[in-house]
Order: sequence, then C-alpha cells, then structure tokens
Amino acid sequence: MQKPESSDAAATGDLAVRVRGVTKEFGSGGSLTRALRGVDLDVPYGEMLMLVGPSGCGKTTLVSIVAGTLQPTAGEVTVLGLDLVAMGNGRKVRFRRDNVGFVFQAFNLLPALSAAENAAVPLLIAGWRRADAIEVASEILETLGLGDRLTNLPSELSGGQQQRVAIARALVHEPRILVCDEPTSALDAENGRITMELIERIAVQPGRAVIVVTHDARVYSFADRIASMEDGRIVSIEAGPHNSTDAAVPR
Ligand SMILES: Nc1ncnc2c1ncn2[C@@H]1O[C@H](COP(=O)(O)OP(=O)(O)O)[C@@H](O)[C@H]1O
Ligand SMILES: [Mg+2]
Repeated sequence: MQKPESSDAAATGDLAVRVRGVTKEFGSGGSLTRALRGVDLDVPYGEMLMLVGPSGCGKTTLVSIVAGTLQPTAGEVTVLGLDLVAMGNGRKVRFRRDNVGFVFQAFNLLPALSAAENAAVPLLIAGWRRADAIEVASEILETLGLGDRLTNLPSELSGGQQQRVAIARALVHEPRILVCDEPTSALDAENGRITMELIERIAVQPGRAVIVVTHDARVYSFADRIASMEDGRIVSIEAGPHNSTDAAVPR
C-alpha cells in the first residue's frame, strides 16, 4: 500500500475505486426499497470492469454512487484516493467535472444543443475556447461515425446516434474514471465494437479505470473482470476474456 499523499487521501494504493459496505435505501416505511444491501468492490487502475445482473438489481444505483451523483445510505466510497462520502457538494461537483465521465442509461442530452455542442459540454465547462472544444468533440464524433451529424439536434438523431453522442461527451475530457450505463444498448454490432474500442483506447489507461454496466454479451470480450449483481449485492467476480494475466484472480 502506498502512503496517502495528502491528508484527505485514503490509503487505496493501486485502486481507482474502493467500495466497502455500501448500502442504499430509497423511500421509507412501507415503500422502502433496499437498492444496495452491502457492496464491496475494488477496481484497480488500468482496468475495465463490467457489471452484469437482472433489471432492478442495483447496477445503476451502484455506478451513480461511484460517479458521485448519488450519496449512499451507509458505507465507504473512495475514488482516485478521495473519500466521496465525506466530500462536500461544491468539491464533489468539481471532482466530477475534472475526473468523471458518465454515460447515462437515458443519454441525458441537452435538447437545444447540436450533437457537437452536446459532446463538447465537459470541455466548455472546463473553460476551453468554444472553437477548440467543438473541434475536439467533432473528432470523437467522427470516430464514432457521426461526422455527418455534427450540427443536428438530438431530436433529429436516432437512438443509436444519440447514444454515441452521449459516449463522446463522456470521453471528450479524457476522464480518469469512466462509468457507462449500458453504453451499447441501442447500437448494432459494428457500432458497438467501434464504441468499445474507443472507450478502451481513451479510458483504459494507467491512472484511469472504467466500469461498464451491460446486458450485451457481445462486449464481454473487452472486460478485464466481470462482476455479477443480484438483489443489491455482488455475488461473484470473475476474470473476463480480455484479461490474460494471473493477477486477475477473482477477488
Ligand atoms: N430514485 C429512486 N427512488 C426509488 N427507488 C429507486 C430509485 N432508483 C432506483 N430505485 C429502485 O432501486 C432498485 C435498483 O434500481 P437500479 O439501480 O436502477 O437497478 P438496475 O440498474 O440494476 O436495473 C430498483 O428496485 C429500483 O426500482
Ligand atoms: Mg439500470
């Protein structure tokens, strides 16, 4: 284990994400939902972890907590060595802006902005010049096969095209933590492969990590490890096809 580098850094060593005993409850009394019932999860730097399991088992809830958009009911969440549970709201907003890319299940594109403007949002928020931000965003959209859709509004795009704009937006600022909630659900096989290759190239790097929620068996080949969830818990973790090293023993 590495020594903590600053007073608020936990001793997480080579772990990009460390989750311990995390629970999440929605509602109360008769309408209480236990979405997470005690989750432990480690994601080392350089890894792509896939999260699988039936609808309603807590996948979106877990990745939202890791991305800092949802506060757990209890437990510890350390991301890039920082304690997300203790972090105040202002710092958390900056932490997300600087470090996190999130592909939402519902895409969450801004309806009044073009494809290129939507994909450029993280750079604009970070203070980039508009022309530079649009140029970088457009390059990513071109890689994803949307070079002829740059100026279209989301309402003028198919579901698969909107999904790729959401992926471009999550990657454009080269985040250290990338969380993708079913990123290939609306894509055909070819676009699914192109998308996963881009995610791998940009986000599976030293000092970075990726968590992909997926039902799509076609993308499992990109996984270093695959974690299975059931009813608010992780029930197993196995080495994925992409991982050829002995270091990938299930934990
Ligand atoms: N904001 C919310 N309010 C109430 N219940 C919620 C909320 N978000 C999720 N849930 C419930 O928590 C459980 C887990 O949901 P979710 O994490 O979205 O599952 P998954 O992504 O695996 O389909 C489900 O029972 C869901 O209905
Ligand atoms: Mg979900």
